[in-house]
Amino acid sequence: MNQATFGIIGAGGIAQSQHLPNLTRAPHVKLRTLCDLREDVLQQMQAKYAVPQAETDYCALLADPEIAAVVVATREDMQAPLPIEALNAGKHGYVEKPLANTPQEVEAVGAAQQASGKFVAVGFNRRMAPAYTKAKELLCADGGAKNLHYRISDEYWSWGKNYPPGVRVIHEVCHIFDLCRWFSDSDPEHLYCLESRPDDEVFVLKMKSGCVCSIMSSGYVTMDLPKERVEIVSNLGAVTVEEFVELRTYGYADAEPVYRYADHSHPDREFTHKYLLEKEGANALSALRRLGWEQRNRAQANGDPLPDAAERKDYVGNRSPHWNYMVDKGWLAAVDHFAQCVLSGEPPRNAGAADGLWSARMSAAAIESRKTGAVVQF
Ligand SMILES: NC(=O)c1ccc[n+]([C@@H]2O[C@H](COP(=O)([O-])OP(=O)(O)OC[C@H]3O[C@@H](n4cnc5c(N)ncnc54)[C@H](O)[C@@H]3O)[C@@H](O)[C@H]2O)c1
Repeated sequence: MNQATFGIIGAGGIAQSQHLPNLTRAPHVKLRTLCDLREDVLQQMQAKYAVPQAETDYCALLADPEIAAVVVATREDMQAPLPIEALNAGKHGYVEKPLANTPQEVEAVGAAQQASGKFVAVGFNRRMAPAYTKAKELLCADGGAKNLHYRISDEYWSWGKNYPPGVRVIHEVCHIFDLCRWFSDSDPEHLYCLESRPDDEVFVLKMKSGCVCSIMSSGYVTMDLPKERVEIVSNLGAVTVEEFVELRTYGYADAEPVYRYADHSHPDREFTHKYLLEKEGANALSALRRLGWEQRNRAQANGDPLPDAAERKDYVGNRSPHWNYMVDKGWLAAVDHFAQCVLSGEPPRNAGAADGLWSARMSAAAIESRKTGAVVQF
């Protein structure tokens, strides 16, 4: 048997853009059951991905003895209770970040995991992005991360309309808190947060290893700006990674100056951009994003003529990957590795419940620091 049997609970945004395409092409996964409360979405997705079974009641999925592991991709409010039930039912759980809204809820998942002896992975997929695994390898060979700066910026002001202002830290920055720990191989000692307005913040962290980290997070940019960039200094060298596509190295005699990672896009879309990313790297990515953004926004705002409908549909529908999913942030590698561990019994390298807890503690500390103006010690 070289495939672990999976079910997935939640067939919304992230399931449709990543988990369903990935669970149905990951070599070590057999997707058996899809579950969502919404019948229409369930039917559409079951047909699109040829999933054998569909359920509106997750209890039916958890009662199926053939299912070894469950992906939970609902919203944060259900994300702690569901893996707890899955673990109690004897399933391994891959749970989307941030696992839960508070450290206390995350602790309950950790306790259920300990009692069950099953694995829990948290969807901090960036740890498995190929550009980041290579960056970490180079940093480790030169004494590890000493100084890290991360920018994460997007149109949260428009996506986040269902979320109250100020909670971006829980949903987005949680990923970066996890990366600070992962890149530095260390837990945080203290954290400080300042905001110019809700969801526009700076975070400063000192890690126990001595590494210092700064994070700029803004939900007020437009999507022609690539979303994420990291710069990390090691002993006597440095790496930069632009939006998971282009890793540049400085000071490492044995490393290439540039590595490019073009090998992923939204799986529904045409792969024409892959050639450009391989040849031009970050420049091509910027151009692709700007093209899409101008098409969507600027031309409309200026009243400029748009490309004719057929051309636009062809570009947007077939050639252009979705904004947020045109690069490899490690989603496929994360679920496939988890499935391999379900099969072999080896502990997974994915972020686990303890990492989810650290990230939740860091988010809570950031919110406290933002409110009080004080540095929070861990
Ligand atoms: N790792 C990443 O990069 C990444 C990216 C985006 C979202 N996420 C996370 O994924 C999670 C889901 O986000 P989303 O944007 O897909 O949300 P969404 O609201 O689009 O989808 C959630 C789905 O879960 C279903 N659902 C809710 N409760 C259910 C239940 N009890 N039983 C069955 N189905 C249920 C809803 O009907 C909905 O279809 C969030 O926690 C989010 O933070 C992670």
